[in-house]
Amino acid sequence: MKIRLISLLTVLVALAVGCGHVSTSPLALIPQPQMYKVHSGMYTFSFGEQFTTNLKGTERSDLAAVLGASPFGLQMSEDEQAPFCFELTDSIPGIASAEGYTLAVGRDGVHVEAVTATGLFYAFQSLLQLAEEGPKEGSWSLPYVDISDYPRFDYRGLHLDVSRHFRSKEFVMKQLDAMARYKLNRFHWHLTDGAGWRLEIKRYPQLTEQTAYRPYPNWKAWWRGGRKYCRRDEASAEGGYYTQDDVREIVEHARKLHITVIPEIEMPGHSEEVLAVFPQLSCSGKPYQNGELCIGNEETFTFLENVLLEVMELFPSEYIHIGGDEAAKSSWEKCPKCQNRIRKEGLKDEKELQSYLIHRVEKFLNSHGRKLIGWDEILEGGLAPSATVMSWRGEQGGITAAKAGHDVVMTPGEFCYLDAYQDAPVSQPEAIGGYLTLEKVYSYNPVPAELSSEQRRFIKGVQANVWTEYIPTAEHAEYMIYPRLLALAEVAWTEPERKDWTRFRKSVLKETEWLQSQDYHPFDLKKEVGERPESLQPVEHLALHCPVTYAQPFSSAYPASGDSTLTDGWRGGWTYGDRRWQGFLCKDVDVTIDLGRLTDIRLVEADFLQLRGPEVWLPKEVVISLSEDGLRFEEVKRIATDVPVTEERLTFRNYRWEGNAKVRYVRFQGFMNREVMGWLFTDEIVVK
Ligand code: ACM
Repeated sequence: MKIRLISLLTVLVALAVGCGHVSTSPLALIPQPQMYKVHSGMYTFSFGEQFTTNLKGTERSDLAAVLGASPFGLQMSEDEQAPFCFELTDSIPGIASAEGYTLAVGRDGVHVEAVTATGLFYAFQSLLQLAEEGPKEGSWSLPYVDISDYPRFDYRGLHLDVSRHFRSKEFVMKQLDAMARYKLNRFHWHLTDGAGWRLEIKRYPQLTEQTAYRPYPNWKAWWRGGRKYCRRDEASAEGGYYTQDDVREIVEHARKLHITVIPEIEMPGHSEEVLAVFPQLSCSGKPYQNGELCIGNEETFTFLENVLLEVMELFPSEYIHIGGDEAAKSSWEKCPKCQNRIRKEGLKDEKELQSYLIHRVEKFLNSHGRKLIGWDEILEGGLAPSATVMSWRGEQGGITAAKAGHDVVMTPGEFCYLDAYQDAPVSQPEAIGGYLTLEKVYSYNPVPAELSSEQRRFIKGVQANVWTEYIPTAEHAEYMIYPRLLALAEVAWTEPERKDWTRFRKSVLKETEWLQSQDYHPFDLKKEVGERPESLQPVEHLALHCPVTYAQPFSSAYPASGDSTLTDGWRGGWTYGDRRWQGFLCKDVDVTIDLGRLTDIRLVEADFLQLRGPEVWLPKEVVISLSEDGLRFEEVKRIATDVPVTEERLTFRNYRWEGNAKVRYVRFQGFMNREVMGWLFTDEIVVK
């Protein structure tokens, strides 16, 4: 009887809340639920209370296992008076998602409704976060509340690269536990890449025997030290792989947490390790020469299909990720077999050759009842008919795919790459670069405004990516993942109008303590240093908005705000990718500013930055020259760089002249270091 009453109450609240009567008192819950109403009063309970459920079979025993193993130690019972009830129902008014739920906490206890076991599971995750520990050991209290909740997106993912640095089975399962707490439901497992093959394949045991270990302490040493692999029993061997039993254990652990594990098998690029073992699958036929599989060779397809057969056996996921990113086309251009394939199949070029492989693999996966998902390069040369695109090089790939009627998962580098610095680089362990704060992840909206409402439906979700080149340890990986994953979880779950940075930040501070208490290693938001101070305010100076003439063009990849960048008053932040820094690729910076009239000046300065990984360098030399007429320039300063190219840290350097002059034109030249070429980046030429 009690169950029916609470059920009705829940429905009424769902309806009322749906009409806009939403409580404004914040609930410390990540991700924030869509609708809730907090009432005065607390429900208190102790360890080992009883619960009932009408779930059947495995779902019933799975729920009992989760609830029993939780800190609450809830015990399954048939007693209708049990204080916790998890009720499967046919439908919930106002909730279309199968993962939604309603949750009511009142004087008599807790009543949950959902249309799937997943919804009931998520309701329990909410309870775990809402419960405050009582004064007595083993007691908790919950606020009286009515929640009506569902996810904004079906796909809510975390990606982990275990090729660059192998992580243990236990580590993976620990991250799955945290994912479930934040209602994330897709684990994208990057299992193969040039830095090592990490999945046991029974038919090709050589893959893991020969490439799962490296005689280097970490990826950087491997990358710079010859990129060779070794066998497990060598003295300095570092690495590891997952046996098929390990995989089954992880997939089963994930299943109980309502998480699907999506394996990624990289092709046709990022395949150096495969080609070290099977050089006949490369265009050169030699090991350690190519990173791309030879698409002209039928044996390549035999290999891929045999691998994928074992992969599909291990992973029940509908999606199989085939990578597809960053394949260089140069080996295919020179390869007789690839060129023969191009001719025979009537393909236009190497992009269509890549697309031939993707189409063919898609057909193979489809014939086994699976779907292909790949990085946005799979759009090149024509997208396979039912492929899903993971948009990482910005959102454009996702936009193009959605407009063409393909499903999309958004994971643009600017918002979703957790390998970037999360705070001022000077305060952080070395990262690959970038600057992606918790707040910036939180600000992301995965649905681009330019899509029509019809096209928006193809945006299936969003994912955080953890590439591990610069993340050598388990603790470091957690430090990069948390708390930014919590922001991604709220982006993925909560409707934008329910998001609130101030409330979220406060919840994160509390949740960080919980993560620490569970032996995770999150970044401590309380210690955040923040953005580069120079970039926070515009600079007032004499060249502001003055025209700039470029003797050499800036790169179209990093234009910042184009011709006006260097005199727009805005200095760049911690990353050259923030659209304030202007990039010059394999070119000197050579610009002249017209101040409009003869002007008394006493200073000219500009900043450059250096980051070795992506080959961003300080100029070898800067020359500042002045002119009254724009024809005859007098060199007033020549400054050599004192920072070596071997410097590992992100380094900012100011180059300036100070003196007294009356001039109209200022020429600023930054000469690249011809030994390393690469990039120059500058942000503002300040004249005072
Ligand atoms: C990628 O970051 N190369 C997908």
